[in-house]
Amino acid sequence: MVTVAVTPETNVETRTAVTPDVVKKLVGLGNEVRVVSGTSVRSGIADSALEAAGAKLVATASEAVNGADILLKVRRPEVSELAGLKPGGLVIAMLAPYDERPSLEALAATGASLFSMEFMPRITRAQSMDVLSSQSNLAGYKAVVDAASLLPQAMPMMMTAAGTVPAAKVFIMGVGVAGLQAIATARRLGAIVSATDVRPATKEQVASLGAKFIAVEDDEFKQAQTAAGYAKPMSEAYQAKQRELVANHIKTQDIVITTALIPGRPAPRLITADMVASMKAGAVIADLAAERGGNCELTKPGEVVEAGHVKIWGPVNLAGTVPVNASSLYAKNLLNFLETMFDKKTKAFSLDWSDEIITGTLVAKDGKIVHPNLVAKEG
Ligand code: NAI
Repeated sequence: MVTVAVTPETNVETRTAVTPDVVKKLVGLGNEVRVVSGTSVRSGIADSALEAAGAKLVATASEAVNGADILLKVRRPEVSELAGLKPGGLVIAMLAPYDERPSLEALAATGASLFSMEFMPRITRAQSMDVLSSQSNLAGYKAVVDAASLLPQAMPMMMTAAGTVPAAKVFIMGVGVAGLQAIATARRLGAIVSATDVRPATKEQVASLGAKFIAVEDDEFKQAQTAAGYAKPMSEAYQAKQRELVANHIKTQDIVITTALIPGRPAPRLITADMVASMKAGAVIADLAAERGGNCELTKPGEVVEAGHVKIWGPVNLAGTVPVNASSLYAKNLLNFLETMFDKKTKAFSLDWSDEIITGTLVAKDGKIVHPNLVAKEG
């Protein structure tokens, strides 16, 4: 039996790490779940619902954490929040492990075992624990809905007595989890959708969603996917060809949604200021890579920039704008991960430190940063 603590997030974060369903499961495994009152209210979850599921409501974060074995968070906690956690206790969150190294080191120095959900290996067994997928999928949906509301025209074609309203043209750049959902959502709204990516596997996926695939399909493109399923950084020569192709296509588009990322690196620059200047009046760019430097040269995170007659929107934490769903999926991802730490028969807590799900996500242990991706960065 372990004690799991859940404490409030900072003001900017609307999501929560716990839902009644998850409380019920954890309590069912014989554990105690302590939640600070009001923690999940912005995700549409009342304290009473958590309590009914078996959570113990407490007034302060220190009451929740004091003597607890595991702290569940959405985002990286402050060092002070770990005070009172059992020695070697577990902290499980989206730690943004590549950001703000000194604060990560300070957190590691507490001796807690830190797990970063973003590092979940992309293996079949861990699909239900993949927070990047659960959150990006919602972000892809919301990007299209919000971009459509910034657009001074309708999305679907409409045949009316007064004439035909043409369908809007939507171009999705980067067809990972967010991009695929953006394609599906834009199609549902009736837009004419095209998409691009550097990974060949996306060609068929784009076609199967009824969108047109546009890409520089040279030899480098054929090798662009890593064994982990991610894109490789492309050569300058490839990027130049890609920019030329995009420059021509983008002139005719009403909405461009960019989602292109390469793990651990700044987002690739796909849209230059000149390309923006060539776009149609009223066009909207939604740059989902805003927090990682942006796919568009003019993006400012958290702002809608008006560049001439084009709006460039750099959303941050889009999944957090649908916190009801984002929290429900995130909390489920956490539960699925936690369940691997319990013996199936005895229900006893028994963490297998050699499991690749554990080694893949473990960022720090015994006071030190241990994850290979982060240790290599020190040198
Ligand atoms: P991501 O968020 O790292 O990147 C988004 C997209 O940007 C990717 O499709 C990437 O190829 C693309 N991109 C990178 N550079 C680009 C460029 N210069 N131009 C155009 N596009 C560019 O990727 P995400 O969403 O995390 O998904 C990556 C892959 O992993 C997908 O194939 C996805 O289906 C797969 N996946 C596998 C899972 C599993 O097996 N457990 C779970 C989730 C995703």
